[in-house]
Amino acid sequence: MKIKNIACIGAGYVGGPTMAVIALKCPEINVTVVDIDINKIKAWNGPLENLPVFEPGLSEIIEFTRNKNLFFSNDIEKSIYESDMIFMAVNTPTKETGEGAGMASDLKYVIESSKMIAKYSESDKIIIEKSTLPVRTAEKIKEIVNKNSKSINFEILSNPEFLAEGTAIQDLFKSDRVLIGSDQTDMGIKAADKLSEIYERWIPKEKILRSNIWSSELSKLASNAMLAQRISSINSLSALCSETGADIDEVSKAIGMDHRIGSKFLKVSPGFGGSCFKKDILNLVYLCQFYGLDDIAEYWYGVVKINHYQQIRITEIIENYFKKNSLEKKISILGWAFKKNTNDSRESASIYITYKLLKLGFKVIIYDPMISREKIIKDINVLNQKEGELNENYLSNITVYESLESIVSVSKIIAILTEWDEFLNIEKPSSDYEIFDFRNILNKKSVKLRL
Ligand code: NAD
Ligand code: UGA
Repeated sequence: MKIKNIACIGAGYVGGPTMAVIALKCPEINVTVVDIDINKIKAWNGPLENLPVFEPGLSEIIEFTRNKNLFFSNDIEKSIYESDMIFMAVNTPTKETGEGAGMASDLKYVIESSKMIAKYSESDKIIIEKSTLPVRTAEKIKEIVNKNSKSINFEILSNPEFLAEGTAIQDLFKSDRVLIGSDQTDMGIKAADKLSEIYERWIPKEKILRSNIWSSELSKLASNAMLAQRISSINSLSALCSETGADIDEVSKAIGMDHRIGSKFLKVSPGFGGSCFKKDILNLVYLCQFYGLDDIAEYWYGVVKINHYQQIRITEIIENYFKKNSLEKKISILGWAFKKNTNDSRESASIYITYKLLKLGFKVIIYDPMISREKIIKDINVLNQKEGELNENYLSNITVYESLESIVSVSKIIAILTEWDEFLNIEKPSSDYEIFDFRNILNKKSVKLRL
């Protein structure tokens, strides 16, 4: 059987870009991306400059493929019914209530999607876990879809996504590896072959790894944990640098030149953000606890602890500077996205640091080239709903600006928290301006305050 119709459940940061690339590389396959969010689908079908996901190179692919062989729809039933292969790219946030709250992944969207697949399928399907999931989730999916009583064969594959936001298209075009986990049965291996054939259109065969499902599910969690671990390692050393007079950039360079270590992911920062690192490590910690591996759980939990520590440390650096210089508590924050080249602010360090500054009585002026005022305020409100530490007038202490020029002219103390290119050439209008360059992006000589 040739794959003719692909459905993808979840039109977010993973579903949108990955399906756009599959549609581009496989023009004879119809790819339909579905979502329960009506506005999101409307935006995917709307003007190219307002797509729900901003990624360099994405809008060009959407322009080329949309309504040829790439479709965005809310008709989940029809797309499941028509498809031979279904990707699940729904969100898997940290659970907020019930067993494992605050640690385990909430699988309610995966379970809901599995139930819909069971209900609307009338023919054999290959179901692909694209979302990041706890080990052994495939078992649960299998149990749900097999409740369909129409003698349909469902093969479950694990095919985790390794793209990073801001470079998603480049990462999808030139993946370091594509991982496909399957049951080691004839049917499982045949299903994995079908998925591999799709990737082989543009990924060299030697980069397509095959494994059992559990290895594939765990490899994704472990990859994110190890990337985040490197960031926490370098951030932890930055605290020691501040005490000893060592320079963290020099230390990072010296470490990274050892080819066994490598230079990537050793950049000091206000802590990692993004929707995945924290939730995936917490999920890993939960899994370790579940299997009684408490020492291992504690080891990985340390990565999240140091990330939190770094955000507190930065807030203290700022607070101490203001105290020492008896300044009015007013600061500009440059950057709200969790990294450059994305319109995503989930778990951004800016949210946490701004929140702490507001709590300390600061007036905060914020600018980000891709994040709207509405979204910035929403991020702070959501955190305050959880923490409830701000006084009732906190909104009057936040101003969001629409341009970099205006922000530089209103506030003399500026903290760079996201490494957007447009912040690279900021010049101090006069010597009484101060820039905290927490992303270390500015020319070293022009900056005094850094990590
Ligand atoms: P997202 O929140 O951007 O998108 C998920 C989408 O799924 C949402 O639009 C939501 O409305 C939709 N959805 C939820 N339940 C649904 C249902 N029952 N039917 C139809 N649609 C439904 O999330 P994301 O960032 O794309 O992440 C998706 C998964 O991929 C997560 O497991 C994440 O850990 C993983 N992942 C994310 C990235 C990334 O860079 N964002 C990279 C690799 C892996
Ligand atoms: C990360 C992984 O890099 C992807 O492989 C993975 O697919 C994805 O998570 C996921 O599962 O969601 P992403 O979070 O999009 O991708 O972006 P990264 O480039 O990893 O950056 C994450 C955070 O770490 C950002 O806040 C970034 O500024 C920070 N970072 C990164 C540092 O602080 N220092 C570094 O050296 C590198």
